[in-house]
Amino acid sequence: MSVYSRILGTGSYLPEKVLTNKDLEQIVDTSDEWIRERTGIRQRHVVIDGESCCDLAERAARRAIESAGLVPTEIDLIVVATTTPDQIFPSTACLLQQRLGIHGCPAFDVQAVCTGFVYALAIADKFIRAGTSRCALVVGSETLSRILNWQDRGTCVLFGDGAGAVVVGAAEEAGILSTHLHADGAYKDLLQVPRGIGSGSCDGDPYMEMRGNEVFKVAVTTLGRIVDETLEANGMQQSDIDWLIPHQANIRIIQATARKLHLPMEQVVVTVGDHGNTSAASIPLALDTAIRDGRIRRGETLLMEAFGGGFTWGSVLARY
Ligand code: UT7
Repeated sequence: MSVYSRILGTGSYLPEKVLTNKDLEQIVDTSDEWIRERTGIRQRHVVIDGESCCDLAERAARRAIESAGLVPTEIDLIVVATTTPDQIFPSTACLLQQRLGIHGCPAFDVQAVCTGFVYALAIADKFIRAGTSRCALVVGSETLSRILNWQDRGTCVLFGDGAGAVVVGAAEEAGILSTHLHADGAYKDLLQVPRGIGSGSCDGDPYMEMRGNEVFKVAVTTLGRIVDETLEANGMQQSDIDWLIPHQANIRIIQATARKLHLPMEQVVVTVGDHGNTSAASIPLALDTAIRDGRIRRGETLLMEAFGGGFTWGSVLARY
C-alpha cells in the first residue's frame, strides 16, 4: 500500500515587540501611507536582543507537536527552513532538536530563502513517502530584522520576524497531493545578501539588497505559472482549490495570484498586514492562523506557494 504524508498539527510564534509603520517613519524617509498602499503591511514583529531564531522555532514547534497530539520524542525527522540561522553551524534544526530533548533522528536546515518552507515541506513529504520517516517536524523560522539595513527604506519596511511549524505524519490517504520545486540562479543578483565569511570574519556588511521592482515582476509571472503547473499535475480546476495560502511578500503579488485562480480574497489567507514578510516563516504562520481561527477545516484543499531569493519558487497542494 502506498504511503502518503498528512498534516497532523500546526503551530506558530511571533516575537512580542511590534514595529508599526509610524515607528518606521522615525527611522527612514517613508510613510505609513506608502507602505500600506504599495505592500499592504501595517506592522511587523521583531526580535529583541537575546531572542534567537531557535527560540522562535522552539515555541512554534512545541505548539505544532501539541496540536498533533504527540510528544517531541515521537518526531523522527526535523527540517528547519531559515535564512537567518543563529550560528553558521550547528544547524538551527540541531539546536532545536537539543531544545526538544530529541536524540538521533536526522535534523538539518534548508536554505531557499522565502521558498524555504515549501522546500522543507516537500522534502519531509518525500522522506515519509520513501518510508524513511513516519513523523516529521517542519519549521520555518526567521530573524530577518538582523540582516536588514535599517537605512535602506526599500527593504527595511518590508520584513518581519517569526516562526511557524507543521507536523506531518505517514498516512494511508494523501494529505500532501503534490509538491513542485524550482530555482534559477541566473537571478541571483536581484535579491541577495552579497557577503560571506573571509579570513574568519564577515566580509563587508551582511545586509539584504533587493531590486524590488524587478523581483516583483518576475514573482507575479512565476507564481502564475506555478499555479497552472500544480493544477495540471493534479488534473484539477481553479474551482477545486478551497484556500490559497501564499507566501506573504506583498498584498499586490497575493492579489495577482488570487486573480489567476479566480479565487475571491475571502478564500486567501492574508497575514502580510500584521506580520510583514517573514520569509520562510510566512506560510506556516498563515496556515496556523487560519487553522486556529477555524477558517480552514479538515478535508479542504490548500494551495501553498512561494517565491524568493535565488530565485527559488514552488508549491505544495494538500488536502488538510
Ligand atoms: O519575499 C520574496 C521576494 N520579495 C518580494 O517579492 C518583494 C517584491 N517587490 C515588491 O514588493 C515591491 O517592488 C516593493 C514594495 C519593494 C516596492 O514597490 P514598487 O511599487 O515596486 O516601488 P518602486 O521600487 O518602483 O519604487 C517607487 C518609488 C521610488 O521613488 P521614485 O524613484 O519613484 O521617486 C522609491 O524610491 O517609491 C520609493 N520608495 C519608497 N518611498 C517611501 C521605495 N521604498 C520606499 C519607502 N517609502 N519605504
